[in-house]
Amino acid sequence: MTTVAPGAPGAPVTLRRQVELTIDGQAVTVPEGSTILEACRSIGTEVPTLCYLETLTPVNVCRVCVVEVEGSRTLVPACSRPVSGGMEVRTDSERVRTSRRMVLELLASSVDLSTAGGDVDRWIETYGARPERHGPPALSTERDRARAGEHEPVAVGTAATVSQAVKRDNDQYVRDYSKCILCYKCVEACGEEAQDTFAIAVAGRGFDARISTEMDVPLPDSACVYCGNCIAVCPTGALMFVTEHDLRARGEWDEGRQQVTRTVCPYCGVGCNLELHVQDDRIVKVTSPLDHDVTRGNLCVKGRFGFEFAEALDGGSR
Ligand code: SF4
Ligand code: SF4
Ligand code: FES
Repeated sequence: MTTVAPGAPGAPVTLRRQVELTIDGQAVTVPEGSTILEACRSIGTEVPTLCYLETLTPVNVCRVCVVEVEGSRTLVPACSRPVSGGMEVRTDSERVRTSRRMVLELLASSVDLSTAGGDVDRWIETYGARPERHGPPALSTERDRARAGEHEPVAVGTAATVSQAVKRDNDQYVRDYSKCILCYKCVEACGEEAQDTFAIAVAGRGFDARISTEMDVPLPDSACVYCGNCIAVCPTGALMFVTEHDLRARGEWDEGRQQVTRTVCPYCGVGCNLELHVQDDRIVKVTSPLDHDVTRGNLCVKGRFGFEFAEALDGGSR
C-alpha cells in the first residue's frame, strides 16, 4: 500500500478543532495543538525566542519566551506550551518583562553575542538588560579541561564568561564557543532531529557545561560528516562557515552587499533547495530554506560546502 506523508499532495486532510483564547486581552482562535507562540505569531505579537526553531522539537532551555498564563503559578514557555480553551495569556506584564530582562542580562554578561543578530540587540534594549552591571568579564578559562564538580570561582567584581579560544580544526567551519548560549539546537540537528550522526553533545555540568565532540577530539577525528546542519540552526554565530569567519575577521563581511539566490542542488536527484549567499561575486555561505518539504533547512556536505567549484569554473581568476 502506498502511504502519503501528512501535508503532502493527496494526503488525507485532518480537520483540527479550533481553540479560543485571549492574548493581551485580544481574542484569538487557533487550531487545537498550536503553541502559545504560534497563537501570538498569528496576531503579530512578538515573543522573543532563542532555543526555539520551527523545524526542531522545543527543548525549553533558554526561557526567554516566557509568558504569564492566568491561573498558572509560574511563567510558562510560549514555544512549547499548547493553547487550551479560555486561556488568558499576557506577553508583556511586569513579571514577564523582568524575567526576560534577567535571562538576556545573564546571557549577555557571560556570552559574546556580537554575531547573534539585530533581534537580540533590540530585545536587550527593549527589556532594559544591563549586562555590564555584573562587572568586566573574568579571564577566559580552559573550559574543555573543566572537571565536573570543580568549578573555579571567578575573581570578585568580574563576570564569569564562557570565553575560550576559537576551535578551527577543519576547512569548512569554525566553532567559537565563546558565543555559545547552550541552546542545544546543534545537538538536536546533529542527532535525532535531522542528521542522526551524534557527533556532538553537551559535556560538563552547571556553568562548565559546553558543547563537545566525544572526548573533545578535533572534528576530523569525530563522527562529524560536515553536513553543516548545526551551523544552520545556531542562533548566535558560534558555528560559522570559515568563509564568513575570515571575512568578518578582516572587517569585510557585509550583508548589505550580499544577494541571496535560491537554486536546486546540482549534486544528486533529491532536489534540495540551496540559498547561495553571494558577496562581490563570490559564494560566501550556503543555507537552505526551512519551509522546503524535503530538507527543512538541512543539507549534506556537498550541498552545504561543495561550492568552491563555482570559483574554479571561473578559471581560478579570483
Ligand atoms: S556538521 Fe553535521 S555531523 Fe558535523 S557536528 Fe554539525 S550537524 Fe553534526
Ligand atoms: S553552538 Fe550554537 S546551536 Fe550549539 S548550543 Fe551553542 S548556541 Fe546553540
Ligand atoms: S525559546 Fe522558548 S524556552 Fe527558549
